[in-house]
Amino acid sequence: MNSSSKVFPGTLRDAATRGHKIAMITAYDAPSARLADRAGVDAILVGDSAAMTVLGLDSTVGVTMDEMMMLARAVSRGARRPLLVADLPFGAYQVSNRSAVANAIRFVREASVDAVKVEGAGTTIRRAAAIVAAGVPVMGHVGLTPQTATMLGGYHPQGRTANSAARLLEDAQALEAAGCFAVVLEAVPAEVAARVTDAVSIPTIGIGSGASCDGQVLVWHDVLGLTTGHLPRFVKQYARLADQIVAGIEAYVADVRASTFPADTHTYRMFNGELPAFQNALNEPSDT
Ligand code: KIV
Repeated sequence: MNSSSKVFPGTLRDAATRGHKIAMITAYDAPSARLADRAGVDAILVGDSAAMTVLGLDSTVGVTMDEMMMLARAVSRGARRPLLVADLPFGAYQVSNRSAVANAIRFVREASVDAVKVEGAGTTIRRAAAIVAAGVPVMGHVGLTPQTATMLGGYHPQGRTANSAARLLEDAQALEAAGCFAVVLEAVPAEVAARVTDAVSIPTIGIGSGASCDGQVLVWHDVLGLTTGHLPRFVKQYARLADQIVAGIEAYVADVRASTFPADTHTYRMFNGELPAFQNALNEPSDT
């Protein structure tokens, strides 16, 4: 893939066909998006994982369309080259094709995203087709779908039995038939993900679904070690920023308490000759 030109849905698909492995990461603000762009990711997802990573909620279902809009706008200001995908949050596409299309168009018009992502199959297939028909590229997402984790009985891998694996493969094919340009496979056994990848002609983006997928996506906070607490087994941490951040802030607190910050180099001074005039105005004795 050309390392300087803008990535479009078709670029991803062509690159995957040529064997290029797609690298995608989530981002939720402009500076992170700028860094991800600089690091050469192919695609950025404004994930509804923001509910947990940045808004402090317990699951993804509580994040609203307005909150996602604010995050997507910020990310689009920072990302230039990568394909920018935004998650339609829970409630933004379940009710009707009409509201699904309206929310997808809102993301494109007001936040300049390139594409939207929707979770699941069933009615989601119709929603995806309607959004694509309205001119907005759609990424599907099957396997573990956090927006409907309650229906799935919790956050568990999906497709571990022959029946559920067959259903998952059919769902991915149905999303392709509905016009999706790519599909995320989350927490799907590697054997199943490999067969889904063979069975569809759109790229598969895995998260916890093995190395045969056409690409991988991970959550920013997980990759960089900003997540505290339990991490799913599919996460690989490439940095430990939480530790570095705490160490940095501890050093700042210590400097403030010891009056070693701010030093002279961090401090402004009055223009030459202005202090005596000021002291005079205050009826203070002059230093000089
Ligand atoms: O919201 C999100 O971050 C996601 C990825 C985990 C695929 O949907």
